Amino acid sequence: MCGIVGYIGYREAYPIVLQGLQRLEYRGYDSAGIALYDGSNLKVSKTKGKVEDLKNRLESEISTKGSIGIGHTRWATHGVPNDINSHPHVSNSGNLVIIHNGIIENYDPLRQELLNRGYTFSSDTDTEVLVNLIEDVKTKENVKLGKAVQIALNQTIGAYAIAVFDKTKPNEIVVARLGSPLAIGVGENEFFIASDATPFIEYTNNAIYLEDGEMAVVRNHKKLKIRKIKDDSLVDPYVQELQLNLEQIEKGGYDHFMIKEIYEQPDAITDTFRGRMKTKEGIIRMAGIDDNLDKFLNARRIIIVACGTSWHAGLVAEYIFEEFARIPVEVEYASEFRYRNPVIYEDDVVIAISQSGETADTMAAIKLAKAQGAFVFGVCNVVGSSISRETHAGAYTHAGPEIGVASTKAFTTQITVLTLIALKLAKHKGKLSASEFRTYLQELERIPGKVKKALESNEQAAIVAKEYKDATNALYLGRGYNFPVALEGALKLKEISYIHAEGYPAAEMKHGPIALIDEQMPVFVIATKKGHYEKVVSNVEEIKARSGKIIGIVTEGDVEVRKLADHVIEIPETLEPLTPLLSTIPLQLLSYHIAVMLEKNVDQPRNLAKSVTVE
Ligand code: G6P
Repeated sequence: MCGIVGYIGYREAYPIVLQGLQRLEYRGYDSAGIALYDGSNLKVSKTKGKVEDLKNRLESEISTKGSIGIGHTRWATHGVPNDINSHPHVSNSGNLVIIHNGIIENYDPLRQELLNRGYTFSSDTDTEVLVNLIEDVKTKENVKLGKAVQIALNQTIGAYAIAVFDKTKPNEIVVARLGSPLAIGVGENEFFIASDATPFIEYTNNAIYLEDGEMAVVRNHKKLKIRKIKDDSLVDPYVQELQLNLEQIEKGGYDHFMIKEIYEQPDAITDTFRGRMKTKEGIIRMAGIDDNLDKFLNARRIIIVACGTSWHAGLVAEYIFEEFARIPVEVEYASEFRYRNPVIYEDDVVIAISQSGETADTMAAIKLAKAQGAFVFGVCNVVGSSISRETHAGAYTHAGPEIGVASTKAFTTQITVLTLIALKLAKHKGKLSASEFRTYLQELERIPGKVKKALESNEQAAIVAKEYKDATNALYLGRGYNFPVALEGALKLKEISYIHAEGYPAAEMKHGPIALIDEQMPVFVIATKKGHYEKVVSNVEEIKARSGKIIGIVTEGDVEVRKLADHVIEIPETLEPLTPLLSTIPLQLLSYHIAVMLEKNVDQPRNLAKSVTVE
C-alpha cells in the first residue's frame, strides 16, 4: 500500500505530483506529503490526513516552485499516522529525501547501528532508517547516490518501492523496487514515477514497469538505465504502450467511484468476454488456456489463492469448476496458504485471482506454488501488474480501472472469466454436450442485459437502505452459488458503512447465528429460484418465527419469499451457475446507499486500502 509519485523534467513538479497523489489515494490515505526542490531550497510539507488536507496546508506553508518533486500518500505500517511519520523523510544532513512504499523488516538493527554512529531519528518509521542508511553509505564509501542506494538496499530485508533524490544533485531521482509496484512514465526530456500509471496518463503513453530487484537512475535529458540491485547487471528497458485513458479514471458525473463502477458492470462483463466467446461457432478462445490446455486437462486439482473479494470470486469458481469441469478445487486465503506448508503437486494448477495484481500475500502464494513445481495461472484486472507477470499464464478481466476501495465490477468480471474457463474445460473434457455448452454461452451473452435490469432495483435498494441504515448488525444468508454472494454482501456492508455483518450458508444459521436473531436484526436472504429454493424458504420461515427482519433477494415473479419477507428485491432469472452475477448487484447497491446515508467515505473507507502490498 501507500502511493508514491515523482517528477523530474521541465514542467512545474507540484501540480503533477499533487494530482498523482489524488489518483493514488486508493492505495492509502492516512497521511500525505510532498518534497520539492526549487533550485536553492528543499521544501517538504506533510500532514496526517488526506491529500486535500495536504494541499491546503502545503500551499500556505511552502512555495510550490521546482521541477523535481516526490510525493507520498500513506497507509501506516510502522508508526501511527501523524505529521512526523508521514513521508517524505529527510536524512540527517538535510540533503537526501525519500518516499517509500513497503516495509523494511530489519529496520530495527539497522537503526541501532546508525544510532551508534551518531544518527538521530525523529519518526518511528522504517523509511527514515533507510534514508539515513543510504546517506551513511554514500558518505562512508564516497559513492554517487545510485550506488549508495544499491549498497543500502542490499543490506535490507523487506519490500519497497522507493524514490530518493539529493538536493545537492537535483538532476536525478533514484528509484528501486522489490515487492511493491513502480512504474516510470517516459516523456520527452521528462520522467514520471508512480505506483501505477494513472498519475501520468495525460502526459505520456509510454511506461516502464520495474521488475522486482531492479533499480534505475532517472536523469533529466538522459536515457534511462535499469540495473539489478543484487549484481549491478544492466537490464534492457521494456517500454510498454499504455491502454488507459483519462475518462476511465474519472467519476464521469457519478457521486462516487463505487456507484460508477457498479453501473459499469454490464459493459465490464461484455468487455470480459469480448473476443473470447464465439457463441455461433460454440467456442471459447482464451490464449492463456489454449496454450496450456494440457496442464488444465491433466490437473490433479485446482487450487485457487486470493484475498478479500477475489477470494469470494474464488469460492464461486469452486462451485463452477467442480460442477462443469469435474476437477477438484480448493480455495485458499493466500495469507494462510503461504505459511502453512501446503501439499502442492506438480500436476496441480494454481489459479491466483487479484484485481490489483499486487497483493503481497497472493504474490507470495504464487511464488511458493511455483517453487514446488505447480503451474500458476493469474486472473488479474490491472494489465502489466506484478502478479500478471509472475504467473506462467493468465487471463485479464478487462474490467477497466477500479478505484472505489470496495470491489464491485472486479468481482463480477472475475466470476465471468472463471466461468469461461470452467465451461471451456468442461467442453474439452466432454462433461458438457455441445448444446448444453451453447446454452451457457447464449445465457452468458444475456447477462449484461440482465445486470442492467438488476440495476433497476437501485431506487428500491435506497428505500430498504433507509430502513436499515441504523442497524448495528446484519446477517447475510445464501446457499450453493449464493453462499459466496452472501459473504461478499456482508463484506461490502462492513467495508463501507462499518456495520458489523456476517455472511453464512443459510443452512448453517441454525448452528449459531440464529441465536442473534431478534426484531432488530436485518437478515438479507438470497433466495433465488433453483439453488435449493425450498430449503432457503424454510430458513426464511425460521427467521420469521424469531421476528428477524427479512430482506429477500429473489427471482422476478417470486411468490413464496414475498409472503414472508419484510422487503423483496427482484433480479432476473438465469441459469443457476450464473446467478451470482445478478444476485450480487442489489447487495452492492444496498451497501452503497447505507454508507452514503451514514455519510461515510464510500470510496475511501477508514483503515482500508485498495491494493495491499504488505503482508
Ligand atoms: C484489499 C481491497 C479488497 C480486495 C483485496 C484483494 O483488501 O480493499 O477490495 O478484495 O485487497 O485485492 P486484490 O487486488 O488482490 O483483488
